Amino acid sequence: MPDEKSKGMNRKGFFWKLGGASMGMAAGGGAIHTMQFLTPKVLFEPPTRFAVGQPEDFSPGSVTTRADQRLYILRAAKGYYYAMSNICSHLGCITNFRETDKLISCPCHGSTFDLEGNVLDGPAPRPLQRLLMERNDRGQLIVDAGQEVDQDFILKV
Ligand code: FES
Repeated sequence: MPDEKSKGMNRKGFFWKLGGASMGMAAGGGAIHTMQFLTPKVLFEPPTRFAVGQPEDFSPGSVTTRADQRLYILRAAKGYYYAMSNICSHLGCITNFRETDKLISCPCHGSTFDLEGNVLDGPAPRPLQRLLMERNDRGQLIVDAGQEVDQDFILKV
């Protein structure tokens, strides 16, 4: 059976170890926060301007969904082109093109849009954003998703 003196030593040793462990954890936590503070916070965003294809890639009267670029590319039956964001103007949900009734609908709160992007049913307060579309020197259609244009903007090719 241990005497009183060795019991005290054990208890003392335990508290020394506990204190040392606490100091080590505090130092480690501080080091992690210091590293996070010193690491640059850089946000890499995809380019907003990109080629979507050649004009003949889109048939007249077609709606092409580019989910990865969050937009629709439309070629009207009359032949002109335009691009619209597929982000709902209500609270930013991703809309869907419904082939059956040629409408664009939002799954979140039920807004519907015509193929010009106009609101047919709310609660969306505004049309879908129409985006700048132009051609580059190779004849490709270019969309600038960072530049909203007027609702009547079209690209004649
Ligand atoms: Fe589209 Fe609400 S986010 S209707």
